[in-house]
Amino acid sequence: MQVIIFDNPQQVAENAAQWVEKLINKKSGAVLGLATGSTPISLYKQLVAKHQADELSFANTTSFNLDEYLGIDENNAQSYRHFMNENLFDHVDIDKSKTFVPTCNQGENPREQGLAYEEKIKQAGGIDLQILGIGANGHIGFNEPTSSLASRTRIKTLTQQTLNDNSRLFAADEFQPTLAMTMGIATILDARYVLLMATGENKASAVKSMITGPLSAVCPASALQLHENAIVLLDKAAASELEDQEYYLWANEQNLKINQEFGLYHNY
Ligand code: GLP
Repeated sequence: MQVIIFDNPQQVAENAAQWVEKLINKKSGAVLGLATGSTPISLYKQLVAKHQADELSFANTTSFNLDEYLGIDENNAQSYRHFMNENLFDHVDIDKSKTFVPTCNQGENPREQGLAYEEKIKQAGGIDLQILGIGANGHIGFNEPTSSLASRTRIKTLTQQTLNDNSRLFAADEFQPTLAMTMGIATILDARYVLLMATGENKASAVKSMITGPLSAVCPASALQLHENAIVLLDKAAASELEDQEYYLWANEQNLKINQEFGLYHNY
């Protein structure tokens, strides 16, 4: 795991945007895995700004989102499809027919929908770079604690903690879904690169468990310990419970030197 600690959330977003930019510029037809939540909003702002400055085109990219609520349709302002339109898709040149979100509408069979989503990812050639946030309870996507580390796209029941954490985004009288379709942990681990962004003190404990805790379904993000190319971008607050901060800073300086000498190697 490559852990990179920045002074503030803005720097986290800027660095994340560079990863996306490098991928798109290196690989025509790049496949992005996208995330929702408050954390990646600043990344999407950066990407939109790069697009508007004519520095970045999404014309040849395909995207797969991690998750989507059940029981609300894509026109609902709370849907993750709506979130993606608002924060990214409506402001860049991506072909919306190549943007996928794991939906399961009324009357559809969630198992079949999950399998079909996995198949679509495969047909697209797999995900090159999966953007991730992390829940305060260590979830990635909506893979809540105790999710199987071998899980695939399916329905998950949200935990009370996640419902409470996300209730800030819903009006008091608004329907808040308690179920969601989500890529599984194995789906996420299949991505060639995973880039997890975490900012703020409320993520510090989950970040610590992810990086130095035991590999355990209790902290789904700890599954990233098994990933060959996992990059974790943190601000100081999210890194505050890590004991080896100096090591990560030092290792990152060495990585920069190695990259300068041998060039950046990305196995997309
Ligand atoms: C949400 C999403 C996750 C996200 C996490 C943290 O419920 N399903 O993909 O990473 O919770 O969200 P935030 O960035 O708003 O803290």
